[in-house]
Amino acid sequence: MDLKFTDAEPSADEREAVDRLIGVADSGWYGGERAAEDHRRSFGGQSARSRRDLVLEALHAVNDRVGWISPGALNYVGRRLSIPPADVYSVATFYALFSTHPRPRRIVHVCTDIACEAKGSKQVCADLEERLGPPSAVAGWKHSPCLGICERSPAALAVEAGDPAIERTLGPTTSHEVLQALEIGPAAVTSEAAATMAVPQAGQDGLLLLQRVGAVDPESLTDFVAAEGYSGLRRALELQPAKVVEEVKAAKLLGRGGAAFPAAVKWESTAAQEATPRYLVCNADESEPGTFKDRAILEGDPFSLIEAMVIAGYAIGAERGYIYLRGEYPRSLRLLRNAIEQSRAHGYLGEDILGSGYSFEIEIRRGAGAYICGEETAIFNSIEGYRGEPRSKPPFPFEAGLFGKPTVVNNVETLVNVPLIMRIGSTAYAELGTGDSTGPKLFCVSGNVARPGVYEVPFGVTLGEVLELAGGVSQGNSLQAVLLGGAAGGFVRPDELDIPLTFEGTRSRSTTLGSGVVLAFDDTVDLPSILVRIARFFRDESCGQCVPCRVGTVRQEEALVRISTRRDDDPTATASDILLLRDVGLAMKDSSICGLGQAAWNAVESAIDRVGVLEEST
Ligand SMILES: Cc1cc2nc3c(=O)[nH]c(=O)nc-3n(C[C@H](O)[C@H](O)[C@H](O)COP(=O)(O)O)c2cc1C
Ligand code: SF4
Ligand code: FES
Repeated sequence: MDLKFTDAEPSADEREAVDRLIGVADSGWYGGERAAEDHRRSFGGQSARSRRDLVLEALHAVNDRVGWISPGALNYVGRRLSIPPADVYSVATFYALFSTHPRPRRIVHVCTDIACEAKGSKQVCADLEERLGPPSAVAGWKHSPCLGICERSPAALAVEAGDPAIERTLGPTTSHEVLQALEIGPAAVTSEAAATMAVPQAGQDGLLLLQRVGAVDPESLTDFVAAEGYSGLRRALELQPAKVVEEVKAAKLLGRGGAAFPAAVKWESTAAQEATPRYLVCNADESEPGTFKDRAILEGDPFSLIEAMVIAGYAIGAERGYIYLRGEYPRSLRLLRNAIEQSRAHGYLGEDILGSGYSFEIEIRRGAGAYICGEETAIFNSIEGYRGEPRSKPPFPFEAGLFGKPTVVNNVETLVNVPLIMRIGSTAYAELGTGDSTGPKLFCVSGNVARPGVYEVPFGVTLGEVLELAGGVSQGNSLQAVLLGGAAGGFVRPDELDIPLTFEGTRSRSTTLGSGVVLAFDDTVDLPSILVRIARFFRDESCGQCVPCRVGTVRQEEALVRISTRRDDDPTATASDILLLRDVGLAMKDSSICGLGQAAWNAVESAIDRVGVLEEST
């Protein structure tokens, strides 16, 4: 792509999609009609350039409307936001959901990730390949990493470009359903799935985080308020911001996004910075394979996230918050937009919230199919309109985060614990769970269990108890292994079901809770093939910025493909590949910039050393 603007023009649809987002161009300099007076005026440019943070949204607008982004559209987005077209191109090509090549209006993303593979996605893909040919944009179907609907695996996401674009999740799906979605359109095949489908416990007594899921209408502010909604915010506004932080500290709330970092420490250090403005970013990217707990909240109780963000913003002295939402969650997007609008209209968001004098705004930014954008500094680059590549730390987000300003990044589940803490008080909250892992916890149980879904339990129950809640291993088969914490987590054996599901309990047993994934594999699953899928995931999702990860993830996948296709034909070659895996794994762990590279070998290592997955091959 050339650095200069080419002659390519946007189509009328593309132009209209961008204009609807940012307004009609007011001069020829920014993509409008050239007028004689444009040659006599000078433009500062800086104010337009500062809207670079709209690049991702502008690309979404075009991709949604037309199905792909033409050179003319890239030019137009560049002109409108005063960004070189090569920059727009580099952003557009970073994200899997965008295409810079022509493709049909209807496209189905078929999940081939680990939970779906355990539930038959290979057969779905084989059937589709027979009917449509290999997956490609032109064929109308593509392989996809985890779509965050693992409880309905094998799953797919069907998209039809238009105004508005129509997106439907399919699951458990079949090749017949995918073909129908391509033939007659996603809307004719299925309606939006109810939020309760993800939450088998919906409506049960005693739930704290999931109590409203299925019990209130997620589109109704009235329902939310009637079910104690915004009472946590009222309590917070009665306290000083520092006191809110103190409460969260006393509750010992640890981050639920994977790193288990104390929320109050981030909040305190951000609030203590002199630089302003400060920002709050809610990480709703949820792309760790096997993870779908945040979606259950976003779809079942979206107002609770808005309430939580206003409290967190108040505590750290932020005026603006961003929800970075995974691009494949269309229903969450619609519900969050509604929750923001209604909350603003009724004084819970915006200027002078509930007459307190505190003002706070929330904007949504949609990701576009890049797992790495869930990393806390990659989110900043993505929101700012750059490629979603992680930044080196330090500086840490609390000192220089979004737009270079002090920023708190918190996961959805972490945040929705905050109104609960405000409501019941830190003492009662800290009594839930164990001394070091307090409060309720959501687990995403999927794979070969009878009732997959999101389960809420107090910290401290065992792995076996969570699997039992989900009905145990399905169809009378026996358990082969459980993956804890997602692709970046680790496998454990069936004789380790007594592992307590707490941060300290899993650590003491040399494994991890990660993002709360509990993925069960029965003895019908080909685990070496699952390992190849995990390796492929990391190779695909590596941003390529640092060598150990860029090269290491490729070498890891190659070695696992060799092992899994060779099997026990040549044990010596396999043993040497395992040695190679160890070397590469160690290099990635020790010297990658971010958590993706550092964790890319974890699951494979545990499968080999803990579960003995490749033993028969050596
Ligand atoms: C590759 C990678 C992907 C990540 N994806 C997510 C994600 O999708 N959601 C999330 O909350 N945290 C994710 N994280 C963790 C974030 O970097 C960060 O720790 C978290 O959002 C902080 O929120 P918490 O303290 O509330 O857990 C990811 C980390 C890495 C290294
Ligand atoms: S570790 Fe991987 S994903 Fe992270 S910055 Fe390096 S190349 Fe990018
Ligand atoms: S939706 Fe397929 S693995 Fe999650």
